[in-house]
Amino acid sequence: MNAPDTALLQRQATSAAGASRFHESARAQVAGAATYIDDIPEARGTLHAAPVCSPVAHGRLSGFDTAAALALPGVRAFVGAADVPGDPILAAFGHDEPVFARDSVQFLGQVMGLIVADDAMTARRAARLVKPRIEPLHPVLSVHEAHELKSYVLPPVHVARGDAAAALARAPHTLDGEFEVGGQEHFYLEGQIAYALPLEQNQWWIHSSTQHPGEVQHWVAHALGIPIHAVTVECRRMGGGFGGKETQAGHLAVWAALAARKTGHPVKLRLDRDDDFMVTGKRHPFAYRYRVGFDDSGRLSGLRIVMLANCGFSADLSGPVADRAIFHCDNAYFLEDVAIDSFRCKTNTQSHTAFRGFGGPQGVIAIERILGDVARHLGLDPLQVRLRNLYGMGERDQTHYDMKVEDNILEPLMTALARSADYGRRRAAIEAFNARSPVIKKGIALTPVKFGISFTATLFNQAGALVHVYTDGSVMVNHGGTEMGQGLNTKVAQIVADELGVPFERIIATAADTSKVPNASATAASSGTDLNGRAAQFAARHVRDNLAAFVAGLDGCGAGAVRFLGGDVITPKSTRRFEEVVNAAYANRIQLWSDGFYRTPKIHYDKLTMKGRPFYYFAYGAACSEVAIDTLTGESRVLAVDILHDVGHSINPAIDIGQIEGGFIQGMGWLTTEQLVWNHKGYLQTHAPSTYKIPTAGDLPPRWNIDLWPEANREDNVHGSKAVGEPPFMLAISVYEALRDAVAQAGGDPEAMNAPATAEEVLKALGG
Ligand code: MTE
Ligand code: MOS
Repeated sequence: MNAPDTALLQRQATSAAGASRFHESARAQVAGAATYIDDIPEARGTLHAAPVCSPVAHGRLSGFDTAAALALPGVRAFVGAADVPGDPILAAFGHDEPVFARDSVQFLGQVMGLIVADDAMTARRAARLVKPRIEPLHPVLSVHEAHELKSYVLPPVHVARGDAAAALARAPHTLDGEFEVGGQEHFYLEGQIAYALPLEQNQWWIHSSTQHPGEVQHWVAHALGIPIHAVTVECRRMGGGFGGKETQAGHLAVWAALAARKTGHPVKLRLDRDDDFMVTGKRHPFAYRYRVGFDDSGRLSGLRIVMLANCGFSADLSGPVADRAIFHCDNAYFLEDVAIDSFRCKTNTQSHTAFRGFGGPQGVIAIERILGDVARHLGLDPLQVRLRNLYGMGERDQTHYDMKVEDNILEPLMTALARSADYGRRRAAIEAFNARSPVIKKGIALTPVKFGISFTATLFNQAGALVHVYTDGSVMVNHGGTEMGQGLNTKVAQIVADELGVPFERIIATAADTSKVPNASATAASSGTDLNGRAAQFAARHVRDNLAAFVAGLDGCGAGAVRFLGGDVITPKSTRRFEEVVNAAYANRIQLWSDGFYRTPKIHYDKLTMKGRPFYYFAYGAACSEVAIDTLTGESRVLAVDILHDVGHSINPAIDIGQIEGGFIQGMGWLTTEQLVWNHKGYLQTHAPSTYKIPTAGDLPPRWNIDLWPEANREDNVHGSKAVGEPPFMLAISVYEALRDAVAQAGGDPEAMNAPATAEEVLKALGG
């Protein structure tokens, strides 16, 4: 593992950006001094809520028997659909989710109401005593059944370019396939939580562990039937979000607020881990069917692919998630004649939601799998087939949604990695090893990623920030983004420090707060720094311009001649300390704070045809993974990983490498051990760490090399950087393809292996 280089960490850079600063909360977090919502001292009279969950996956709900629950000492109230003063339907995009189940229940775990009690344990115990009256109905649990019944949360989407049918008819070879890829539980360390405090005059303060405070604010106001300005939502940090707190934090906040309204007390709602698994949505599981045409060299000519997204019971973010799968089913490759059908299937399960990559991984894995199968079909090296199909430079460079790939570095990046990872020699060594090893078989794969950066909902690509300079020269920055561990606040503080030419330590980034920056977008789509970093840079620039004009007046020079560097303000005539200038400017009534606003340029696309330029730029990377499988037990290990990833000019290399490590390992978990199992009644059996296996320290590859591509973003992005939060997740597809290579080398059928490649799945593919 690449431990952050301490020399790098301690580098005394003249600029804050570009250096590996510690995460702004790192020390507080390891000392247990960083506040999460459950650590906030409770206001007097605080009560605790627990959800009353549906015990069946589908049914008609006619009422509750709450007598036993309410009789328990310490229980204050049952809160249900009748207690919603505003709209009983949540303000979600699809407007298709009741706040509390009313006439029907749609999945096992759906929240039908709350019990409010003096303490959390009493509330949880009492919630289990509430007896709903439900007449069970047939639950639709498989995506295939949903598709047959035309049970969809949103209409199907068809995207095509050229004539796939004709290209397939002409193709020298064709291959048909079917496979499935599982979902994924977010497993944030801090579970979902909200704390609602009624203020005076029907105003509200909500502490929410959310990636999108503005949406929580909107949802709470909507359910309470009050204007948005009466609700303030604050989030200092999350203990992980990973997409799971993009919309689904809103449910908890609404529930806590409704309980607080009914009881007149502050209410905290913290789901325990099992309830969190049962109540909240996950990564969308996908099923695929394809037919691909190709020539003798493995170059693709035609592709037809059908994707079934298992959305769960409501739309949530399923539309944009399934759209991003469409936008990424080319990954790095030029698909000339292609037809894609995407079905957004409604099943009686949790409502699946954003998860790192946001449907991108479900698109990328499809084409990587197809290319792996094409290569095996022709007896070619999969890397050669991948390289042969890459987007070209200046030709074969138009995506199936009409965007030109102008910043393509795929070929040089992949060949550089193949060289540094010694791919060719190792592939030969693995074949030699397998020839003499009867039980353990190895495999290797090198796969790229090209990930589009921007929200596909163009309107979200805007951000605001506030920079305040105080009279001692200390600086506070507040922006619309949220901190979930990814280091956004650190990067934004670095950017502001550079803009004002002051040391990094001068800057504090404060909690996301809807009363400071309004209407902020979710921190998602990896664009947190691109958007909020730029907005903060502009805010700081306004303050700097005010100071420069002031100092220029003192020294009789042009404002353009004033420089801000190393805590000094330098003119051709004099050098003053920053705090000295700030103090004098204050005395002269110069504005020392400002807002900043940014919106991403160049992007546009037609929602109906899905054509245009949905992304400002692409982030690239590639990974080479070597694995071993035990052909008797199906167990597998990742032996070695080499990564070359493109973050443009890194604002903080230590944090970016941390994101690459975390993203890769999380992707590896998705594709190997993290299996969600719903039984035939729709009960999620893997609802705790005892049965749901995320990677642990012992699963880290013994050889793990991570390098950063040295080039700046070719588009004008903050400090020449590129977004890093999600793209590395898809590098783990190299592990899955390496496992399929090992299965093939062991004489098994890699096309029979679905994801995740659990031991069971590997054995199945081996014919065991
Ligand atoms: N890193 C940590 N430590 N915790 C998280 O919850 N979420 C990921 C990624 N990296 C996450 C993370 C997801 S899903 C996204 S979209 C981005 O961070 C969001 O932050 P950014 O836009 O600032 O990169
Ligand atoms: Mo990330 S899935 O866009 O929150």
